[in-house]
Amino acid sequence: MAVSYKDLGLVNTKEMFADAYKNKYAVPAYNFNNMEQMQAIIQACVETKSPVILQVSSGARKYANQTLLRYMAQGAVEYAKELGLNIPIVLHLDHGDSFELCKSCIDMGFSSVMIDGSHFSYEDNVAVTKKVVEYAHQFDVTVEAELGVLAGVEDDVAAEVSHYTKPEEVQDFVSRTGCDSLAISIGTSHGANKFTPEQCTRNADGILVPPPLAFDILEEITKKLPGFPIVLHGASSVPQDKVAIINKYGGALKDAVGIPEDQLRKAAASAVCKINIDSDGRLAMTAAIREVFATKPAEFDPRKYLGPARDSLKELYMAKNKNVLGSANRIPFAK
Ligand code: G3H
Ligand code: 13P
Ligand code: ZN
Repeated sequence: MAVSYKDLGLVNTKEMFADAYKNKYAVPAYNFNNMEQMQAIIQACVETKSPVILQVSSGARKYANQTLLRYMAQGAVEYAKELGLNIPIVLHLDHGDSFELCKSCIDMGFSSVMIDGSHFSYEDNVAVTKKVVEYAHQFDVTVEAELGVLAGVEDDVAAEVSHYTKPEEVQDFVSRTGCDSLAISIGTSHGANKFTPEQCTRNADGILVPPPLAFDILEEITKKLPGFPIVLHGASSVPQDKVAIINKYGGALKDAVGIPEDQLRKAAASAVCKINIDSDGRLAMTAAIREVFATKPAEFDPRKYLGPARDSLKELYMAKNKNVLGSANRIPFAK
């Protein structure tokens, strides 16, 4: 039987993005796969008084079970209230790759879905996005689409302009599909190794400095789509202190590099209304767990390492909301 997100206390992205656009901040979109991540996200967003998008990838659905994740999101709404603030919470499908997957999420209570047709031809991307929008809008579910391919280190496209979103396509795409927000490619990429060392320069301390985001493309897109919410994927900063802890305690992360926080602050103050962060959370959890394993080898109660991992995640998310996305203290419509 179909479930409406409205009955679960969730909201779609419409009001959130309008407020983020107007007040020049970005709503955090944090991925979750398990209870500790969900607790850290909600604790951090309640304490910083921030709206939040809980993101579920298809990998997360396979890992954790889609029904459990949906009930966790429903639980998150009640948990936030219990913590003292009814913050707006969106349950969003991250990188949906088919109409069927998007429909299944909409039918089971998601308030927002991404249809990622960026790897299809332009016309096929338009067609599948339009189909998802037509279905989603019947239920007041919002739809994120993607144009342009995010640079990926493995195929060595990080510097290739041809993979960036083409500003001349965005008006046609948005008007033909009716999507509610658009993920664009301006130089971010997924994972903890966003650029090869060859694509970076090194600062005086030998730290890798990545190439800047293509703000000129973002500006052109904004001119073509005034007032329209833009989304940034692949926006982890890859904190070097976390990478160092992981490597100190037996990890093997080499040349891990992310998007500098000042670039993300600049993006958040523009038409970018949603910023996706997953890898930084993975790094924070892994660093905390490795440290417990290395320094307390006799410990075998999962709460003794998942607890510190959860605390570290919460601290990371609070700092993001306050210092990077600007989403802290931005919940004018929380009841
Ligand atoms: O963009 C992808 C997200 O980081 C989710 O990753 O598919 O491994 O869950 P995943
Ligand atoms: P990161 O890998 O940079 O955290 O990006 C996450 C993301 O875009 C999820 O869709
Ligand atoms: Zn993504």
